[in-house]
Amino acid sequence: MPKISTKNINAWFGKTRALRGISLDVPEKQVVAIIGPSGCGKSTFLRSLNRMHEVAGGTIEGKVLLDGEDAYALDPVVLRRRVGMVFQKPNPFPTMSVFDNVAAGLRLNGVRDKKRLAEVVEKSLRHAALWDEVKDSLDKSGVSLSGGQQQRLCIARTLAVNPEVILMDEPASALDPIATARIEELIHELKKEFTIVIVTHNMQQAARVSDFTAFLYLGELIEYDATTKLFTTPGNKQTEDYITGRFG
Ligand SMILES: Nc1ncnc2c1ncn2[C@@H]1O[C@H](COP(=O)(O)OP(=O)(O)OP(=O)(O)O)[C@@H](O)[C@H]1O
Ligand SMILES: [Mg+2]
Repeated sequence: MPKISTKNINAWFGKTRALRGISLDVPEKQVVAIIGPSGCGKSTFLRSLNRMHEVAGGTIEGKVLLDGEDAYALDPVVLRRRVGMVFQKPNPFPTMSVFDNVAAGLRLNGVRDKKRLAEVVEKSLRHAALWDEVKDSLDKSGVSLSGGQQQRLCIARTLAVNPEVILMDEPASALDPIATARIEELIHELKKEFTIVIVTHNMQQAARVSDFTAFLYLGELIEYDATTKLFTTPGNKQTEDYITGRFG
């Protein structure tokens, strides 16, 4: 069974149609990349998976299934814990230390035990490949880290509440090539345990990190296939034009 399945999703911002009948299965513990030109609906699609589209002021029709069950029937807070999100610009909580940034979600869930908090913070930071760099400065402000470290901190914050799926919206686009490479390596590690959906402008990145790729254009899913297949022998002319740089 797919980890996430969308069935004929249509999404709007007021009268602007952002998604047109998207049906797509995300297999468990795989990385799915969403590509396509600016404005084609990549972020909207991602946000439809954990009901952030409605938070962004939009409306939606169709079904999102998580483990075969209606994701929209879940408490949105529970849904967003199970389907976590990492944004384009690293956004650590500005007034919080490194430790508190990672512990924030647990504290919200009522965890008070200091030992337990410290354990989860360490585990999450290790998981996000950041522990060695911050273990001696956990009290430092989260925003005092470098951009790449801040993004890994945000990934650690997402991991701390033990999600099943991680949504990433251009997680490396604000980072330099070295920090980007670290995020890509990390994605490779994380897929052993998590299902990942990543939006990226960068086709080389999609080819490097993902197992499956979806090409969206003007709110429609044009092609969805194994990444190697889509980038070598696309089945659709529009996909081919896009990946060869003829438009977008
Ligand atoms: N907050 C909003 N209010 C109104 N319209 C919006 C809003 N956000 C996005 N849109 C519109 O919805 C459509 C899809 O936007 P979306 O942000 O999903 O595209 P995208 O593929 O993520 O683009 P980009 O690559 O530039 O991030 C576009 O036509 C966009 O103008
Ligand atoms: Mg976007």
